[in-house]
Amino acid sequence: MFEAGAQSGRSSDRPARALSAELQEEDLAIDRSLRPKYLKDYLGQEKVKESLAIMIQAAQERGEAADHILFSGPPGLGKTTLATVVANEMHSNIRTTSGPAIERTGDLAAILTNLEEGDVLFIDEIHRMNRMVEEVLYPALEDFALDIVVGKGPAARSIRLDLPRFTLIGATTRTGLLTGPLRDRFGIAFRLQYYTPEELSSIVLRSASILGVNIQEEGALEIARRSRGTPRLANRLLKRVRDFAQVRGDGVIDEDVAAQALSFFEVDSLGLDAMDNRILEMLTVQFGGRPVGLTTLASALSEEPDTLEDVYEPFLMQQGLVIRTPKGRQATARAYEHLGMVPPEGI
Ligand SMILES: Nc1ncnc2c1ncn2[C@@H]1O[C@H](COP(=O)(O)OP(=O)(O)O)[C@@H](O)[C@H]1O
Ligand SMILES: [Mg+2]
Repeated sequence: MFEAGAQSGRSSDRPARALSAELQEEDLAIDRSLRPKYLKDYLGQEKVKESLAIMIQAAQERGEAADHILFSGPPGLGKTTLATVVANEMHSNIRTTSGPAIERTGDLAAILTNLEEGDVLFIDEIHRMNRMVEEVLYPALEDFALDIVVGKGPAARSIRLDLPRFTLIGATTRTGLLTGPLRDRFGIAFRLQYYTPEELSSIVLRSASILGVNIQEEGALEIARRSRGTPRLANRLLKRVRDFAQVRGDGVIDEDVAAQALSFFEVDSLGLDAMDNRILEMLTVQFGGRPVGLTTLASALSEEPDTLEDVYEPFLMQQGLVIRTPKGRQATARAYEHLGMVPPEGI
Protein backbone atom coordinates (compact mmCIF):
# COMPACT_ATOMS: atom_id res chain seq x y z
CA MET A 1 0.00 0.00 0.00
CA PHE A 2 1.15 3.48 -0.74
CA GLU A 3 1.21 6.27 1.79
CA ALA A 4 -0.38 9.04 -0.11
CA GLY A 5 0.21 12.01 2.14
CA ALA A 6 3.95 11.54 2.24
CA GLN A 7 4.42 11.33 -1.49
CA SER A 8 1.96 13.65 -3.10
CA GLY A 9 2.58 16.44 -0.62
CA ARG A 10 -0.94 17.65 -1.32
CA SER A 11 -3.23 15.78 0.93
CA SER A 12 -3.11 14.20 4.35
CA ASP A 13 -3.42 10.43 4.52
CA ARG A 14 -6.91 10.62 5.96
CA PRO A 15 -8.68 11.21 2.66
CA ALA A 16 -6.31 8.79 1.01
CA ARG A 17 -7.44 6.09 3.36
CA ALA A 18 -11.04 7.10 2.90
CA LEU A 19 -10.59 6.74 -0.82
CA SER A 20 -8.42 3.75 -1.48
CA ALA A 21 -10.43 0.91 -2.95
CA GLU A 22 -8.33 -1.70 -1.17
CA LEU A 23 -10.13 -3.66 1.51
CA GLN A 24 -9.50 -2.24 4.96
CA GLU A 25 -10.45 -3.32 8.40
CA GLU A 26 -13.54 -1.20 8.85
CA ASP A 27 -14.83 -2.58 5.56
CA LEU A 28 -15.05 -6.08 6.91
CA ALA A 29 -17.81 -5.09 9.29
CA ILE A 30 -19.65 -2.83 6.82
CA ASP A 31 -19.18 -5.36 4.06
CA ARG A 32 -20.93 -8.09 5.96
CA SER A 33 -24.08 -6.08 6.54
CA LEU A 34 -24.23 -4.35 3.17
CA ARG A 35 -23.22 -7.12 0.84
CA PRO A 36 -26.10 -8.10 -1.46
CA LYS A 37 -27.06 -11.77 -1.18
CA TYR A 38 -29.09 -12.29 -4.35
CA LEU A 39 -28.98 -10.97 -7.91
CA LYS A 40 -32.01 -8.76 -7.29
CA ASP A 41 -30.09 -6.77 -4.62
CA TYR A 42 -26.93 -6.55 -6.72
CA LEU A 43 -27.30 -3.20 -8.47
CA GLY A 44 -25.74 -2.34 -11.84
CA GLN A 45 -23.60 -4.64 -14.05
CA GLU A 46 -26.82 -5.49 -15.90
CA LYS A 47 -25.22 -7.48 -18.70
CA VAL A 48 -23.19 -9.60 -16.28
CA LYS A 49 -26.24 -10.32 -14.12
CA GLU A 50 -28.33 -11.30 -17.13
CA SER A 51 -25.72 -13.76 -18.39
CA LEU A 52 -25.29 -15.23 -14.93
CA ALA A 53 -29.03 -15.62 -14.45
CA ILE A 54 -29.28 -17.55 -17.71
CA MET A 55 -26.28 -19.69 -16.89
CA ILE A 56 -27.56 -20.54 -13.41
CA GLN A 57 -31.07 -21.35 -14.54
CA ALA A 58 -29.82 -23.55 -17.38
CA ALA A 59 -27.48 -25.48 -15.09
CA GLN A 60 -30.24 -25.95 -12.54
CA GLU A 61 -32.72 -27.21 -15.11
CA ARG A 62 -30.15 -29.78 -16.21
CA GLY A 63 -29.34 -30.62 -12.60
CA GLU A 64 -25.66 -29.86 -13.15
CA ALA A 65 -23.06 -27.66 -11.52
CA ALA A 66 -22.61 -24.37 -13.40
CA ASP A 67 -19.52 -23.80 -15.54
CA HIS A 68 -16.41 -22.33 -13.93
CA ILE A 69 -16.60 -18.53 -13.82
CA LEU A 70 -13.92 -15.84 -13.77
CA PHE A 71 -14.57 -12.29 -12.54
CA SER A 72 -11.99 -9.62 -13.18
CA GLY A 73 -11.82 -5.91 -12.53
CA PRO A 74 -10.42 -3.27 -10.20
CA PRO A 75 -10.82 -3.62 -6.40
CA GLY A 76 -14.16 -2.83 -4.79
CA LEU A 77 -16.39 -3.38 -7.83
CA GLY A 78 -18.16 -6.42 -6.40
CA LYS A 79 -16.26 -9.56 -7.47
CA THR A 80 -16.38 -11.27 -4.08
CA THR A 81 -19.99 -10.21 -3.65
CA LEU A 82 -20.92 -11.69 -7.00
CA ALA A 83 -19.28 -15.00 -6.10
CA THR A 84 -21.47 -15.30 -2.99
CA VAL A 85 -24.52 -14.16 -4.97
CA VAL A 86 -23.96 -16.93 -7.52
CA ALA A 87 -23.62 -19.52 -4.76
CA ASN A 88 -26.82 -18.29 -3.09
CA GLU A 89 -28.73 -18.31 -6.35
CA MET A 90 -27.62 -21.91 -6.93
CA HIS A 91 -28.49 -22.82 -3.32
CA SER A 92 -24.92 -24.05 -3.02
CA ASN A 93 -22.38 -23.89 -0.25
CA ILE A 94 -19.42 -21.67 -0.92
CA ARG A 95 -15.86 -22.44 0.15
CA THR A 96 -13.63 -19.39 0.08
CA THR A 97 -9.88 -19.23 -0.24
CA SER A 98 -7.31 -17.16 -2.11
CA GLY A 99 -4.41 -17.77 -4.48
CA PRO A 100 -1.65 -16.88 -2.01
CA ALA A 101 -3.30 -18.88 0.81
CA ILE A 102 -2.91 -22.16 -1.07
CA GLU A 103 0.79 -22.64 -0.54
CA ARG A 104 1.32 -26.29 -1.35
CA THR A 105 -0.34 -28.77 -3.69
CA GLY A 106 -1.44 -30.69 -0.59
CA ASP A 107 -3.42 -27.65 0.60
CA LEU A 108 -5.36 -27.60 -2.64
CA ALA A 109 -5.87 -31.37 -2.57
CA ALA A 110 -7.35 -31.07 0.92
CA ILE A 111 -9.73 -28.32 -0.20
CA LEU A 112 -10.82 -30.24 -3.29
CA THR A 113 -11.41 -33.54 -1.55
CA ASN A 114 -13.58 -31.80 1.04
CA LEU A 115 -15.92 -30.34 -1.55
CA GLU A 116 -19.40 -31.71 -1.94
CA GLU A 117 -21.40 -32.18 -5.11
CA GLY A 118 -22.55 -28.78 -6.45
CA ASP A 119 -20.37 -26.67 -4.14
CA VAL A 120 -18.87 -23.37 -5.22
CA LEU A 121 -15.15 -23.00 -4.65
CA PHE A 122 -14.17 -19.33 -4.63
CA ILE A 123 -10.50 -18.50 -5.18
CA ASP A 124 -9.79 -14.80 -4.75
CA GLU A 125 -6.63 -13.28 -6.27
CA ILE A 126 -6.36 -16.37 -8.39
CA HIS A 127 -3.52 -14.83 -10.42
CA ARG A 128 -1.30 -15.19 -7.34
CA MET A 129 -1.59 -18.96 -7.14
CA ASN A 130 1.66 -20.82 -7.38
CA ARG A 131 2.37 -22.70 -10.62
CA MET A 132 2.64 -26.16 -9.05
CA VAL A 133 -0.67 -25.70 -7.30
CA GLU A 134 -2.19 -24.44 -10.52
CA GLU A 135 -1.23 -27.62 -12.34
CA VAL A 136 -3.09 -29.72 -9.79
CA LEU A 137 -6.13 -27.58 -10.46
CA TYR A 138 -6.25 -28.27 -14.22
CA PRO A 139 -7.55 -31.88 -14.12
CA ALA A 140 -9.83 -30.91 -11.24
CA LEU A 141 -11.47 -28.27 -13.41
CA GLU A 142 -11.59 -30.29 -16.57
CA ASP A 143 -12.28 -33.85 -15.48
CA PHE A 144 -13.20 -33.42 -11.80
CA ALA A 145 -10.25 -35.59 -10.95
CA LEU A 146 -7.24 -35.30 -8.70
CA ASP A 147 -3.94 -36.96 -9.54
CA ILE A 148 -1.92 -37.72 -6.47
CA VAL A 149 1.40 -39.41 -6.02
CA VAL A 150 1.61 -42.00 -3.28
CA GLY A 151 4.81 -43.53 -1.97
CA LYS A 152 8.36 -42.39 -2.58
CA GLY A 153 11.24 -43.27 -4.87
CA PRO A 154 10.87 -46.30 -7.18
CA ALA A 155 7.68 -47.38 -5.38
CA ALA A 156 5.94 -44.06 -6.10
CA ARG A 157 2.85 -44.27 -8.25
CA SER A 158 0.18 -41.89 -9.31
CA ILE A 159 -3.45 -42.55 -8.55
CA ARG A 160 -6.46 -40.66 -9.77
CA LEU A 161 -9.24 -39.69 -7.36
CA ASP A 162 -12.69 -38.67 -8.50
CA LEU A 163 -13.93 -35.34 -7.23
CA PRO A 164 -17.50 -34.14 -6.86
CA ARG A 165 -18.74 -31.81 -9.58
CA PHE A 166 -18.17 -28.29 -8.35
CA THR A 167 -18.07 -24.76 -9.76
CA LEU A 168 -14.87 -22.77 -9.47
CA ILE A 169 -15.27 -19.01 -9.25
CA GLY A 170 -12.03 -17.12 -9.64
CA ALA A 171 -11.52 -13.42 -9.02
CA THR A 172 -8.63 -11.29 -10.17
CA THR A 173 -7.69 -7.67 -10.58
CA ARG A 174 -5.25 -8.70 -13.28
CA THR A 175 -6.44 -10.92 -16.10
CA GLY A 176 -3.15 -10.24 -17.81
CA LEU A 177 -1.28 -12.25 -15.20
CA LEU A 178 -3.41 -15.37 -15.52
CA THR A 179 -1.70 -18.17 -17.43
CA GLY A 180 -3.31 -19.17 -20.72
CA PRO A 181 -4.11 -22.74 -19.59
CA LEU A 182 -5.88 -21.51 -16.47
CA ARG A 183 -7.85 -18.85 -18.33
CA ASP A 184 -8.95 -21.44 -20.90
CA ARG A 185 -10.47 -23.63 -18.22
CA PHE A 186 -13.09 -21.09 -17.25
CA GLY A 187 -16.32 -21.59 -19.13
CA ILE A 188 -17.04 -17.88 -18.96
CA ALA A 189 -15.21 -14.70 -17.95
CA PHE A 190 -16.70 -11.37 -16.96
CA ARG A 191 -14.94 -8.06 -16.65
CA LEU A 192 -16.75 -5.81 -14.15
CA GLN A 193 -17.14 -2.17 -15.19
CA TYR A 194 -17.06 1.00 -13.13
CA TYR A 195 -20.52 2.00 -11.97
CA THR A 196 -22.33 5.11 -13.18
CA PRO A 197 -23.19 7.81 -10.61
CA GLU A 198 -26.85 6.78 -10.95
CA GLU A 199 -26.07 3.14 -10.15
CA LEU A 200 -23.84 4.12 -7.25
CA SER A 201 -26.53 6.41 -6.01
CA SER A 202 -28.97 3.50 -5.76
CA ILE A 203 -26.31 1.50 -3.94
CA VAL A 204 -25.86 4.39 -1.47
CA LEU A 205 -29.62 4.61 -0.93
CA ARG A 206 -29.84 0.87 -0.34
CA SER A 207 -26.93 0.95 2.13
CA ALA A 208 -28.41 3.97 3.91
CA SER A 209 -31.66 2.17 4.44
CA ILE A 210 -29.87 -0.89 5.86
CA LEU A 211 -27.79 1.32 8.18
CA GLY A 212 -30.80 3.43 9.13
CA VAL A 213 -29.27 6.63 7.76
CA ASN A 214 -31.56 9.50 6.85
CA ILE A 215 -30.49 10.58 3.35
CA GLN A 216 -32.03 12.52 0.49
CA GLU A 217 -31.67 11.50 -3.15
CA GLU A 218 -29.49 14.51 -4.00
CA GLY A 219 -27.24 13.69 -1.06
CA ALA A 220 -26.83 10.13 -2.32
CA LEU A 221 -26.02 11.37 -5.81
CA GLU A 222 -23.37 13.75 -4.46
CA ILE A 223 -21.66 10.86 -2.66
CA ALA A 224 -22.05 8.68 -5.75
CA ARG A 225 -20.39 11.23 -8.04
CA ARG A 226 -17.28 11.23 -5.87
CA SER A 227 -16.89 7.50 -5.35
CA ARG A 228 -14.61 6.69 -8.27
CA GLY A 229 -17.22 4.43 -9.83
CA THR A 230 -16.67 1.98 -6.95
CA PRO A 231 -19.34 0.62 -4.56
CA ARG A 232 -16.84 -0.05 -1.77
CA LEU A 233 -15.85 3.64 -1.78
CA ALA A 234 -19.46 4.75 -1.99
CA ASN A 235 -20.28 2.75 1.15
CA ARG A 236 -17.22 4.06 2.95
CA LEU A 237 -17.96 7.68 2.06
CA LEU A 238 -21.56 7.21 3.15
CA LYS A 239 -20.30 6.32 6.63
CA ARG A 240 -17.97 9.33 6.77
CA VAL A 241 -20.72 11.67 5.63
CA ARG A 242 -23.15 10.17 8.11
CA ASP A 243 -20.75 10.99 10.98
CA PHE A 244 -20.35 14.52 9.69
CA ALA A 245 -24.11 15.04 9.34
CA GLN A 246 -24.66 13.75 12.87
CA VAL A 247 -22.06 16.00 14.50
CA ARG A 248 -22.25 19.14 12.38
CA GLY A 249 -25.85 19.00 11.20
CA ASP A 250 -29.15 17.47 12.18
CA GLY A 251 -28.27 13.98 11.01
CA VAL A 252 -29.99 14.28 7.65
CA ILE A 253 -27.77 13.91 4.58
CA ASP A 254 -28.96 16.35 1.93
CA GLU A 255 -26.95 17.59 -1.03
CA ASP A 256 -25.52 20.48 0.95
CA VAL A 257 -24.33 18.44 3.92
CA ALA A 258 -22.90 15.80 1.59
CA ALA A 259 -20.93 18.40 -0.35
CA GLN A 260 -19.68 20.07 2.84
CA ALA A 261 -18.65 16.76 4.37
CA LEU A 262 -16.86 15.59 1.24
CA SER A 263 -14.85 18.76 0.95
CA PHE A 264 -14.10 18.59 4.68
CA PHE A 265 -12.66 15.11 4.10
CA GLU A 266 -10.78 16.48 1.07
CA VAL A 267 -12.47 14.10 -1.31
CA ASP A 268 -11.56 15.08 -4.81
CA SER A 269 -14.44 16.33 -6.98
CA LEU A 270 -13.94 13.34 -9.30
CA GLY A 271 -13.37 10.96 -6.40
CA LEU A 272 -9.77 10.36 -7.47
CA ASP A 273 -7.54 8.81 -4.85
CA ALA A 274 -4.02 9.86 -3.95
CA MET A 275 -2.41 7.46 -6.40
CA ASP A 276 -4.63 8.69 -9.24
CA ASN A 277 -3.53 12.23 -8.50
CA ARG A 278 0.13 11.24 -8.30
CA ILE A 279 -0.18 9.64 -11.73
CA LEU A 280 -1.67 12.83 -13.15
CA GLU A 281 1.00 14.97 -11.51
CA MET A 282 3.70 12.72 -12.83
CA LEU A 283 2.40 12.92 -16.39
CA THR A 284 1.78 16.67 -16.36
CA VAL A 285 4.56 18.07 -14.16
CA GLN A 286 7.50 15.64 -14.08
CA PHE A 287 7.11 14.40 -17.65
CA GLY A 288 5.85 17.75 -18.91
CA GLY A 289 2.88 16.33 -20.83
CA ARG A 290 4.93 14.06 -23.07
CA PRO A 291 3.76 10.45 -23.69
CA VAL A 292 5.33 8.08 -21.17
CA GLY A 293 5.80 4.33 -21.50
CA LEU A 294 4.03 2.15 -18.95
CA THR A 295 7.18 0.74 -17.35
CA THR A 296 8.85 4.16 -17.11
CA LEU A 297 5.76 5.58 -15.47
CA ALA A 298 5.49 2.61 -13.12
CA SER A 299 9.07 2.86 -11.94
CA ALA A 300 8.76 6.62 -11.45
CA LEU A 301 5.78 5.89 -9.19
CA SER A 302 7.39 2.85 -7.51
CA GLU A 303 4.36 0.84 -8.55
CA GLU A 304 4.03 -2.39 -10.51
CA PRO A 305 3.15 -1.90 -14.19
CA ASP A 306 0.31 -4.43 -13.86
CA THR A 307 -1.24 -2.53 -10.97
CA LEU A 308 -1.07 0.71 -12.91
CA GLU A 309 -2.58 -0.89 -15.94
CA ASP A 310 -5.32 -2.88 -14.22
CA VAL A 311 -6.21 -0.86 -11.13
CA TYR A 312 -5.58 2.82 -11.88
CA GLU A 313 -5.50 3.39 -15.59
CA PRO A 314 -8.99 2.14 -16.47
CA PHE A 315 -10.71 4.76 -14.34
CA LEU A 316 -8.43 7.60 -15.49
CA MET A 317 -9.09 6.66 -19.11
CA GLN A 318 -12.80 6.28 -18.52
CA GLN A 319 -12.80 9.81 -17.08
CA GLY A 320 -10.91 11.16 -20.10
CA LEU A 321 -7.95 12.24 -17.96
CA VAL A 322 -5.39 9.96 -19.55
CA ILE A 323 -5.13 8.56 -23.04
CA ARG A 324 -3.05 5.75 -24.47
CA THR A 325 -1.07 6.74 -27.52
CA PRO A 326 1.29 4.53 -29.54
CA LYS A 327 4.16 6.28 -27.71
CA GLY A 328 2.76 5.84 -24.23
CA ARG A 329 0.40 7.32 -21.67
CA GLN A 330 -0.42 10.98 -21.89
CA ALA A 331 -2.37 13.44 -19.74
CA THR A 332 -5.27 15.22 -21.42
CA ALA A 333 -6.31 18.86 -21.14
CA ARG A 334 -8.92 17.72 -18.66
CA ALA A 335 -6.17 16.36 -16.41
CA TYR A 336 -4.45 19.75 -16.38
CA GLU A 337 -7.71 21.47 -15.60
CA HIS A 338 -8.41 19.00 -12.84
CA LEU A 339 -5.07 19.82 -11.23
CA GLY A 340 -5.78 23.53 -11.60
CA MET A 341 -3.18 24.04 -14.32
CA VAL A 342 -3.34 25.47 -17.82
CA PRO A 343 -2.70 22.80 -20.46
CA PRO A 344 0.41 23.49 -22.54
CA GLU A 345 0.17 24.15 -26.29
CA GLY A 346 -0.88 21.16 -28.37
CA ILE A 347 -2.55 19.17 -25.59
N1 LIG B 1 -23.47 -4.33 -7.42
C1 LIG B 1 -23.46 -4.01 -6.11
N2 LIG B 1 -24.59 -3.62 -5.49
C2 LIG B 1 -24.56 -3.28 -4.20
N3 LIG B 1 -23.45 -3.28 -3.42
C3 LIG B 1 -22.31 -3.67 -3.99
C4 LIG B 1 -22.25 -4.07 -5.34
N4 LIG B 1 -20.99 -4.42 -5.64
C5 LIG B 1 -20.28 -4.25 -4.52
N5 LIG B 1 -21.06 -3.79 -3.52
C6 LIG B 1 -20.61 -3.43 -2.18
O1 LIG B 1 -19.23 -3.10 -2.25
C7 LIG B 1 -18.48 -3.87 -1.35
C8 LIG B 1 -17.22 -4.33 -2.03
O2 LIG B 1 -17.49 -5.34 -2.96
P1 LIG B 1 -16.54 -6.64 -3.12
O3 LIG B 1 -17.38 -7.71 -3.69
O4 LIG B 1 -15.84 -6.93 -1.85
O5 LIG B 1 -15.50 -6.10 -4.21
P2 LIG B 1 -14.22 -6.83 -4.84
O6 LIG B 1 -14.26 -8.26 -4.39
O7 LIG B 1 -14.40 -6.66 -6.32
O8 LIG B 1 -13.03 -6.08 -4.35
C9 LIG B 1 -19.41 -5.01 -0.92
O9 LIG B 1 -19.33 -5.25 0.44
C10 LIG B 1 -20.80 -4.54 -1.21
O10 LIG B 1 -21.37 -4.01 -0.03
MG1 LIG C 1 -12.83 -9.21 -3.20
